[in-house]
Amino acid sequence: MRVLGIETSCDETAVALVEHDGHRARVLESMVSSQVKIHEPYGGVLPELATREHLRNLPRLVPQLLEKARIKLDDIDLIAVTEGPGLTPALLIGHSYARALAIATGKPVSGINHLEGHLFSPFLALDRPPQFPFLGLIASGGHTLLVEAQGWNKYVKLGGTIDDAAGEAFDKVARMVGLPYPGGPQIEKMAREGNPDAHAFPQSFPEKDNFNFSFSGLKTSVRYFLEKNQDKLSDPCWRADVCASFQKAVIEVLARKTVNAAVHSRCKTISASGGVLCNQALRSALQEACAKKKIELLLADAQLCTDNAAMIAAVAAEKMSAGLPPSTNTDVNPNLSLSAA
Ligand code: KG4
Ligand code: ZN
Repeated sequence: MRVLGIETSCDETAVALVEHDGHRARVLESMVSSQVKIHEPYGGVLPELATREHLRNLPRLVPQLLEKARIKLDDIDLIAVTEGPGLTPALLIGHSYARALAIATGKPVSGINHLEGHLFSPFLALDRPPQFPFLGLIASGGHTLLVEAQGWNKYVKLGGTIDDAAGEAFDKVARMVGLPYPGGPQIEKMAREGNPDAHAFPQSFPEKDNFNFSFSGLKTSVRYFLEKNQDKLSDPCWRADVCASFQKAVIEVLARKTVNAAVHSRCKTISASGGVLCNQALRSALQEACAKKKIELLLADAQLCTDNAAMIAAVAAEKMSAGLPPSTNTDVNPNLSLSAA
């Protein structure tokens, strides 16, 4: 079975082809047209600009993808498209394009939850289908979520952020220290030169059985600290220490709560994905914490951590292979939640 995936929930126009051989899904081709340069001057994603770019990109990317994979549209069995959550106008472009393709080709179309894509993306690196139960960590620019996946469409939310997402905190702190958007990779680069123990920034909800996150207090604490030390801001070594200490506070809380949540839910496997999981220090912290508890850790490759369409097509392919009917929702849902998937 071959699935064409389309993802336009935020600022990346992504298309992919995934093949399922009845046992596991495999990525044939994946293309992402990044809009980082377009949104960089604004310090964040502008929905109107993102939407226009998707409209421009999709009719160009899909034929390129098919040509690269040497596959004809006729040889596609299913079109998978992100249904939500995300920016409504951006989602609508992908959705409309997918529906138009479906009408033109007679192929079925299936709406997929973007978060479900992230949740299952680490399994794409394996030679086996997803096995339940597992504990999923999703940490991106829009979401920070701990979920127990008990089966297809059976997701129990154990915790999540009550304010900013982890990636959002990276982006906002980066801006405070004068680094460009998106801030995560910039902070990570700067943190490599700094001392993570230079400053003790606060961490949220220390209780062992609390799986919620709050990054707003941490962000405010960094803001006050920077305001108090304006005279030191021009010193790159001092800025590197701030970045390293902030990064440490985020990483520690993410790694600790993820492993605690897996122990709590008796999950022997953790899947971790979302843009923040590109962070090498976080990957190492999770690897170390999981090794101590003898938990299997599945980390998505960096290009599958950030938004992509392979993860959308893969979920659709796995679900179809498991005998689940395609979601026939005819509308997008900007607030689609995982438990309701
Ligand atoms: O998953 P993603 O591409 O888009 C969303 O669905 O939000 O995640 C983007 C987020 C941004 O906030 C970005 O700063 C963060 O992931 N990010 C990182 C790193 N690379 C990307 N955060 C920390 N360290 C990184 N290396
Ligand atoms: Zn995402």
